[in-house]
Amino acid sequence: MSHILGFGGYAPARVITNDDWAEWVDTSDEWITQRTGIKERRFAADDESTMTLATQAAASALKDADLTPDDIDEIVLATDTPEMMTPDTAALVQNQLGCRNIPTYDLGGSGCAGFVQALDVARSRILVEPKKVLVIGVELISRMISLKDRATAVLFGDGAGAVVLGPDRGRAEVLGVVAGTDGSAAEILTLAAGGTRNPFNAESLANGDYNRLVMDGRRVFTEAVKRMSEAASDVLDMVGRSLSDVKLVIPHQANLRIIDAVRKRLGLDQETVFVNVDKFGNTGSATVPFAMWQAVNEGRIEEGDLVVLTAFGAGFHWAAAAVQF
Ligand code: ACO
Repeated sequence: MSHILGFGGYAPARVITNDDWAEWVDTSDEWITQRTGIKERRFAADDESTMTLATQAAASALKDADLTPDDIDEIVLATDTPEMMTPDTAALVQNQLGCRNIPTYDLGGSGCAGFVQALDVARSRILVEPKKVLVIGVELISRMISLKDRATAVLFGDGAGAVVLGPDRGRAEVLGVVAGTDGSAAEILTLAAGGTRNPFNAESLANGDYNRLVMDGRRVFTEAVKRMSEAASDVLDMVGRSLSDVKLVIPHQANLRIIDAVRKRLGLDQETVFVNVDKFGNTGSATVPFAMWQAVNEGRIEEGDLVVLTAFGAGFHWAAAAVQF
């Protein structure tokens, strides 16, 4: 049994509007709004980093759970935009929070499915041994991808979300998680630079290849809709519940059109699907925990509600969780 004991989130203060983007690259508010539903997103300040965003979200989850850093037994952090190649961002967050010398690890490269995958890993750790695990999804994408590439850069924002997961009865129980990977689609969405295939060198720095996100947007779109809706149905089947029992679906916030297509495929009304992509853009593995934190704080979820988290990202990876409040 694993229960969420507290929810946390953090978004940097700096707001970047579509009009800001239109001043930097050849785009417009109309194009971005029509294609994605995104109106604005947040960018980290110069003195912020992946570590500081994650620490802020983790500290707010600890406060919400009425726990101290001493109470935490393990940290699992999902990110595709780590503070450094090594060590892991989770180790840095452990130190920032002032936790004991507990084990920490990053789940990297699962793109936007990272947090729900991390939640699944944390559940299994709790089954092995009753522990309190801090689970974090964080991205500082604005510093990792080319801000000159209008086709990708306008989609993303920076942010972090976190939960404290424990074996004891808490605010919500994670009833089940389904997850899958199709590695044959790995090349459809890549940020290869800096890895062993494409190490940093003078040439890649000169031609701008070092931070180019390669993406087949239409393939991503189609697969995201299919996998997120299937995963949501599958996890409900797994826990013996149905869509009519669900109060709120919290999908990965990639794009309003993707979210709408998932909603229609599942036959849900707008009230049942949480959307904040208009205000925060796509914050990768942070979208789901951040949105859940927001939904709880806004009173969109109450005791007794069944909530489904569903996410999709590079890999391709997908994962969905059924959460009983
Ligand atoms: N502003 C203006 N024009 C642009 C921009 C921009 N920011 N970006 C691309 N264009 C142009 C293209 O160059 C192209 O021009 P052309 O026809 O002269 O060649 C035109 O707009 C159409 O481009 P398409 O790629 O065909 O546009 P599409 O309708 O497919 O929308 C989009 C692109 C928004 C990326 C869409 O495919 C999509 O949302 N895909 C999902 C991708 C995604 O969400 N990725 C995030 C990471 S993965 C995840 O989170 C699941």
